[in-house]
Amino acid sequence: MRNPHVLLIPYPAQGHVIPLMELALNLAKHGFKVTFVNTEFIHERVINALPGTDNVQELIQMVSLPDGLESSDNRSEIGKLSESILDVMPGELNALIERINGSESEKISCLIADATMGWALEVAEKMGIKKVAFWPAAAALLALLFKIPSLIDDGIIDSDGKPMKNQKIQLSPTMPVMKTMDLYWSCINDELTRKLIFKLLVKIVRPTKSADRLISNSSYWLESGTFASYPDILPIGPLLASNRLGKSTGYFWREDSGCLAWLDQQPPDSVIYVAFGSFTVFDHNQFQELALGLELTDRPFLWVVRQNITEDVDNAYPTGFEERVQHQGRMVSWVPQQKVLSHPSVACFISHCGWNSTIEGISNGIPFLCWPYFTDQIFNKSYICDYLKIGLELNKDDNGIIRRVEIKNKLERVLGDEGLKERVLDLQAKILNGVREGGSSYKNFNDFVAWI
Ligand code: UDX
Repeated sequence: MRNPHVLLIPYPAQGHVIPLMELALNLAKHGFKVTFVNTEFIHERVINALPGTDNVQELIQMVSLPDGLESSDNRSEIGKLSESILDVMPGELNALIERINGSESEKISCLIADATMGWALEVAEKMGIKKVAFWPAAAALLALLFKIPSLIDDGIIDSDGKPMKNQKIQLSPTMPVMKTMDLYWSCINDELTRKLIFKLLVKIVRPTKSADRLISNSSYWLESGTFASYPDILPIGPLLASNRLGKSTGYFWREDSGCLAWLDQQPPDSVIYVAFGSFTVFDHNQFQELALGLELTDRPFLWVVRQNITEDVDNAYPTGFEERVQHQGRMVSWVPQQKVLSHPSVACFISHCGWNSTIEGISNGIPFLCWPYFTDQIFNKSYICDYLKIGLELNKDDNGIIRRVEIKNKLERVLGDEGLKERVLDLQAKILNGVREGGSSYKNFNDFVAWI
């Protein structure tokens, strides 16, 4: 019998490509033939960022499709990108699958799409291919999507997703309480963008619900209440902890590998790791206040400063900052985050609470200092601080700025709080057991593999 051929397609953003690539590598490890489809724009970035020593393409066939935009177009305009994807990509994907299926031995057995690419599930449905929706964020947020019609009927949100009032809701008695102002579309300030994202989310509900399987990069131990109420959503994560192939997983930026040697020189449990994922942007004042806050802590820090994290990043630091901190900290443009978090010198994670960062921090037993910006990060922050109790939140002053003193004081509290550390270590042990033989995610993943 030939090996099954699986085609995976992520949403074209860093926080979506990484976990799906982890899944692809896990499937390759199980003997599957794997085709990974990026947009041309993302494909080029991934290939350019691959370390010369890493040939991930030995395991996965990486292909690309046009997203319909010009290479010079701004892809951070979600509306424009999504419209163009919907226009062009279904036809392109259909043609790609037909081409592959032209050879009997290559035929696609199963398509796995990021749920936010619901249209790809519809292509699979039309072509009669097994279809799987992959959810890269907290499973509770997928449950929230499924509840949208009843939230509208019950007058909790209007038909554009806007909360009718600030209140707390609980989707089921076993799930954490959510504030309506924190629902991931509600905490987008720009009205037009909020409406647009809500519309896009509503569009993916049907194809996601009608997928043959619904898998999520989460663990029973993180969201047992959600999985009890929504048994169709299968946790198979954290994928990031379970992938031990040591291959690169689709970075858009080249990693600074020198940061690991720098970490080796720091005392155990001493370094503050600071990273805000792939698209959070800082205004100039807040960026400077963060820099001064890190300096004030008087502790070693490793700070990921992406080229696009703030305007004119090369001239963004406070005067004299880089010279003053040269023996204290290190600023780098992109790191192998999972390796950094597993380094014994790392003590705390100042994070924007993206879901991948959240599960990576927990998988390595690191407590959090939370600095969320928008979308699902606000909800993840509540998970970390109020539900799992493994981190603290940074508060803004009356002008909406997180001040250097707040950073220093909260950091001292996180580092001095034995309870936070104990709980995150306990959770780490549980979720890592979950991906080991006999664990809940291990079992779900193996059942899934057998089903394909
Ligand atoms: C976004 C959302 O915030 C997230 O919740 C959603 O599920 C996916 O899209 P992003 O903001 O980029 O993602 O954050 P996050 O989910 O944390 O993903 C960032 C990824 O980049 C992580 O896997 C992290 O390990 C990686 N990373 C980040 C690096 O490898 N190196 C870095 O220097 C910084």
